[in-house]
Amino acid sequence: MSQKKIADLFNFTGKTVVVTGGANGIGYGIARRFVEAGANVVISDINEGVGIAKTEALESEFGTKTLFVKTDVSSEEDVKALVEKTRETFGSLDVMINNAGIFPTSPVLTMEVGFWDKVQAVNGRGVFLGCREAAKVMVEQGSGAIINIASIDALHPSMVGLAAYDNSKHGVWGFTKNLALELAPHKIRVNAIAPGGVATEGVAAMSSGAPSMTDEQMKAFLSAIPMGRYAEPDEMATVALFLASDAANYMTGSIVVADGGSLIA
Ligand SMILES: NC(=O)c1ccc[n+]([C@@H]2O[C@H](COP(=O)([O-])OP(=O)(O)OC[C@H]3O[C@@H](n4cnc5c(N)ncnc54)[C@H](O)[C@@H]3O)[C@@H](O)[C@H]2O)c1
Repeated sequence: MSQKKIADLFNFTGKTVVVTGGANGIGYGIARRFVEAGANVVISDINEGVGIAKTEALESEFGTKTLFVKTDVSSEEDVKALVEKTRETFGSLDVMINNAGIFPTSPVLTMEVGFWDKVQAVNGRGVFLGCREAAKVMVEQGSGAIINIASIDALHPSMVGLAAYDNSKHGVWGFTKNLALELAPHKIRVNAIAPGGVATEGVAAMSSGAPSMTDEQMKAFLSAIPMGRYAEPDEMATVALFLASDAANYMTGSIVVADGGSLIA
């Protein structure tokens, strides 16, 4: 096999990348790096206002064509339309990043069924739908890479109150491994990333009070990170770039933990 130059490994010119939940936080960080790497990027999110504004800002900064598609990842119809619109616009789908997720907290003892169902619908069904629709296109193409944003909570609970979330993220990791087996013969790689604490809009909303974590919980979480700080979204984006690139050509069914040492503490 001929060896690619390092610069070519991370050159995504002509490749099409879809990022769900791409208007904010980790998803936006990922979208931005793929735009910089030359890809045609599709940002999808339920937040249309922020999504369109950031898509336009990326277009004018990098001079690329970037698309926004309003999508609720828990809706089969929306995810089908997202993949269709991507294909119509760019003609392929090379990298699918299933990032959209929610992390509300509730003790199990007082958890409503609707709360449970909503977390599983966005974090679980959303990943399934994104993978299934992207994989249909990738199987036809005979190539592709899928990256599911799981969490360290896919492997180990980080705090009381996240039981519904932990169920969904353990599911994402199990699903990723099985799908990797199914898609390996089609030359499609499926991997996951397990972020620890990342400073995002979603986490900021948690720390600003209801309906999520208390200040004490936030402080306890921070003090349990050996590196002593939250990650920046870009520190997840560079991991995604690696996993999607030819530098990770022999990786499938893997989870990359990027958590400042939280899991070994
Ligand atoms: N931030 C962290 O510390 C952390 C840690 C581990 C894992 N994660 C995971 O990373 C992913 C992104 O987290 P974040 O911190 O960037 O969140 P965030 O809240 O900052 O951003 C999430 C984005 O997803 C969008 N979104 C929410 N529900 C959606 C839906 N149904 N359909 C489409 N878009 C939807 C939101 O509008 C938002 O733009 C999630 O899957 C989360 O579980 C985050």
